Amino acid sequence: VGNGLANTPQMGWNSWNFFGCKINEKVIRETADALISTGLAKLGYRYVNIDDCWSELQRDSKGQLVPDSKTFPSGIKALADYVHSKGLKLGIYSDAGAFTCEVRPGSLFHESDDAKRFASWGVDYLKYDNCFNLGIEPEKRYPPMRDALNATGHTIFYSLCEWGVNDPALWAGKVGNSWRTTNDINDSWASMTEIADINDKWASYAGPGGWNDPDMLEVGNGGMTYHEYRAHFSIWALMKSPLLVGCDVRNMTAETFEIISNEEVIAVNQDPLGVQGRKVYAYGPDGCFQVWAGPLSEQRMSVVLWNRCSKSGTITAKWGTLGLESSTSVSIKDLWKHEYVSQNSISSFSARVDAHACEMYIFTPSTLSRSTY
Ligand code: GLA
Repeated sequence: VGNGLANTPQMGWNSWNFFGCKINEKVIRETADALISTGLAKLGYRYVNIDDCWSELQRDSKGQLVPDSKTFPSGIKALADYVHSKGLKLGIYSDAGAFTCEVRPGSLFHESDDAKRFASWGVDYLKYDNCFNLGIEPEKRYPPMRDALNATGHTIFYSLCEWGVNDPALWAGKVGNSWRTTNDINDSWASMTEIADINDKWASYAGPGGWNDPDMLEVGNGGMTYHEYRAHFSIWALMKSPLLVGCDVRNMTAETFEIISNEEVIAVNQDPLGVQGRKVYAYGPDGCFQVWAGPLSEQRMSVVLWNRCSKSGTITAKWGTLGLESSTSVSIKDLWKHEYVSQNSISSFSARVDAHACEMYIFTPSTLSRSTY
């Protein structure tokens, strides 16, 4: 991509999942304020991303994009200045087609003009959608905006929203900082689990500079239980997905905040090794007892025991499935209880997990057992 960004997955907030088209500059400003006052910004949530519906239905007489004069009367530059004054970054949205999905003007064949305009406003991030694409291959439509953004001389994060149509993992590493691997998430267990499985297939293509994007978080939007949202957040973190909060952070419940502010889970997502964790083992009815795992820096490993069955049960991770020697002694930190599991484990680890819940751990194999045996 050439912009030096995305050494770890992007973190922030996006307007779409909660607000849809009902956005305005007040919501964006108040969201920036809330990211600061809640402490979420300090935890890494720094991009404040405006999704679809920020612009007028038509370009102006000079062919330029203009913000909706009713909902964004002060303009995007003023908003960027405000967000920057808080130490945050501003994201905007356009489309690699004739129109956006909500039928605002798209940027196809306007890449250079639009990129310059975004840069002149001080925009730090572009989400680039795939609607009304005139049947032109995404491999042809997405690179021109990368080149246009790079040509502005401003450093702008480039997020491809191609929905996984032409297997973007295979080609987008050279084009964008992240690429959607699936269709849109909705606020349900069925959607979240399906998307996790699709995104998992592309694990080997993610890494520093470019990440698989299984879509934005639904945590806090009301359609899933506390345990389901905790699993959603844990698996997204382990998969090195962008962590873009999609609820109204001005009005979060304590449970929502507890989930998205878990520093140890965030640290798994932001680990410098940058390897996407994956589903390493599934057993039981329809494979609903699942072990997801991935390597972390300093020889550690993140492990999620995920119960996708409709009843609680005991899930076991065997060292063999994690790629560890069975004699290795492992110290285990529970990232939701925030405590070490009492004894060092050898050969396998089991835990009781509620229906639709997960438990998440960091495994630290002891170097002693490794060098001794
Ligand atoms: C598409 C994208 C969504 C959102 C909407 C906005 O569906 O995949 O993430 O940006 O468009 O219209």
